[in-house]
Amino acid sequence: MEKTSHVMLVGEGARQFAIAQQLETVETIAAHPHQSARGKRRLASPRDPAGNHDTIALLVLHANGDIAGGCSTSGLGKKLPGRVGDSPIIGGGLYVDNEVGAAGATGLGENIMRYCGSFMVVEYMRQGMSPEEACRETVRRITRGERSGTALNINFVALDKYGRYGAAGSGKEFPFSVTTQTSSRVIRATASEKRG
Ligand code: GLY
Repeated sequence: MEKTSHVMLVGEGARQFAIAQQLETVETIAAHPHQSARGKRRLASPRDPAGNHDTIALLVLHANGDIAGGCSTSGLGKKLPGRVGDSPIIGGGLYVDNEVGAAGATGLGENIMRYCGSFMVVEYMRQGMSPEEACRETVRRITRGERSGTALNINFVALDKYGRYGAAGSGKEFPFSVTTQTSSRVIRATASEKRG
């Protein structure tokens, strides 16, 4: 954001740019896709357990009213090389609008990015929904768009410019953390939608 006018660099071009910026070169787990017991690479499916990736979405409200957000992920276990998830996609895994609020997602990126999930949450807040209502409505919308009987594995957290926060997920419970100047606690959001 500070060194070029571009919004996104990917692949070899991004690597070369990072090297030119003197960032450290490290091996990532993406270089070692999971192998099955028979030594064959197994690709991810929506039915894989939720623990097959490790995504963090962090939303922050500054005392001066500015909102910021960040998202970090290992991607998805057993993915095809070249797979792009929701986390780096603006409006997919993260969206911040300083006039309204911010939203972030964890879960199966394919089910989030197809719907611009985090953007949808922020737009619902713009229309007047609370952060929790906006997350729940987004999970409902995506649930309606997907075939029943499959595990959606999607979760959203949201924070608005008034400091209100909320979350919702497609699973039974979605734990998320809230930290203020005086406290830090884990809250368990209940499922927004039951699926067969
Ligand atoms: N939410 C992380 C991913 O699917 O890549």
